[in-house]
Amino acid sequence: MTTATADLVIVANRLPVDEVVNPDGSTSWGRSPGGLVTALEPVLRAQHGAWVGWPGGTDQEIEPFESDGLTLVPVPLSADDIEHFYEGFSNGTLWPLYHDVIAKPLFHREWWDAYVDVNRRFTERAAEVAAPGATVWVQDYQLQLVPQMLRELRPDLRIGFYLHIPFPPAELFAQLPWRRQILEGLLGADLIGFQLPGAAANFIRLVRTRVGHRTHKDTVQMPDGRLVRASAFPISIDAEEFETMARSEAVQSRAKEIREQLGSPKTLFLGVDRLDYTKGIHARLRAYSELVAEGHVDVNDAVFVQVATPSRERVEQYRILRDEIDRLVGRINGDLGHYGRPAIDYQHASFPREEMAALYRAADVMVVTPLRDGMNLVAKEYVACKYDDEGALVLSEFAGAAHELRQAWMVNPYDINGMKATLLDAHRASPEERRRRMRAMRVQVKENDVARWAENFLGDLAGR
Ligand code: ADP
Ligand code: G6P
Repeated sequence: MTTATADLVIVANRLPVDEVVNPDGSTSWGRSPGGLVTALEPVLRAQHGAWVGWPGGTDQEIEPFESDGLTLVPVPLSADDIEHFYEGFSNGTLWPLYHDVIAKPLFHREWWDAYVDVNRRFTERAAEVAAPGATVWVQDYQLQLVPQMLRELRPDLRIGFYLHIPFPPAELFAQLPWRRQILEGLLGADLIGFQLPGAAANFIRLVRTRVGHRTHKDTVQMPDGRLVRASAFPISIDAEEFETMARSEAVQSRAKEIREQLGSPKTLFLGVDRLDYTKGIHARLRAYSELVAEGHVDVNDAVFVQVATPSRERVEQYRILRDEIDRLVGRINGDLGHYGRPAIDYQHASFPREEMAALYRAADVMVVTPLRDGMNLVAKEYVACKYDDEGALVLSEFAGAAHELRQAWMVNPYDINGMKATLLDAHRASPEERRRRMRAMRVQVKENDVARWAENFLGDLAGR
């Protein structure tokens, strides 16, 4: 039993570090993948709170430990939990349902039972570590029942919830057999944050029509007299940290080296994503390959680097995607590449942040084309690294980031011809045009960094 001492507790499916097994069988702690950890780690470090989450392996009973000024409180998951709660309900049901049903969501009653069970265990851990009157901030779609469960156990707490992914339109959400339980779970919070105002509006409408509570603008009137607010808080990155990294000697020389290793192309196009069907990697690579095939882009002076982090590899849709991308890249390079000059340089790997910064520094055209994305931090990281205002960002209008980075070259990722035309526009734009757009986007990213996001959310939560 951990003592209840933390005034701020983050509850997220993953800890910010997870245990990785090295090739020699030894284990070590590595940084967890994805935007959630990227965003929250600096916030918690600044406040010295506790973080409750899964350490990444199977059945690991690990005592709470300190890491770099953070108190980490592991919640073990069994093989069954991983299959039914994580791969099943979280990533086989909710993830596709909340991302426009790009893949078909599967509804299984045993997955739901596991979701309830695991949400309860996260709740119990959080209730143990939170000091009297503490603030608990619950994160993301894997833990939507925790706010209500926690309120029942600990009515003294101030509870916030933040959804990092889109919240779907009512018509899609209504498919979910457990829609009412999810809405009621979220309503245990005092403040519910979404990436975009449209998502908050979807939620409020559903609460009114499906739960029957009275709502007024962004506020829900609960039967017990509580008021719950649902609002947009677009998430961001530690822009200064990225810029400092980008300016460092080591990153600059690595960026130069990357270009040389690629054969010193005139233009380097870059895509960086978790390997996920929401990211639009397939259509993006097809669009680029057609530009090469039609002679608009020449493999002798341009290359597309696509870096894809392995993700959720035991979920069938992700296996299918991996095979599709492998096949597509093989075909494109087989058809269009020359000796030592592939059209696409594909890496199925995860890199340290310095390497990411070097890639961003090296890239002339950053191509971010998700079919649907809550925010997309990669787009903001690229902008943060371009301190000389060089470089062009091609961005999907279906990424949350499109609402803020308005000067990007916007695309509809479903429109291959449109994407081709826009890629060429970005590629051929004058240096003045690129600088003008980048400058404006840099102001936006620097002013609205992750510290501000957290201050806004926690400030509003404290005021409730
Ligand atoms: P998501 O949360 O869906 O993965 P985001 O773009 O919001 O998408 O966040 C992804 C985060 O993961 C970013 O911080 C990005 O730098 C990091 N990342 C993405 N791909 C890689 C990779 N291949 N290696 C290391 N980090 C990566
Ligand atoms: C997105 C989700 C996070 C998740 C991350 C990595 O950022 O919003 O909740 O942690 O992807 O996915 P994973 O399934 O590996 O945790």
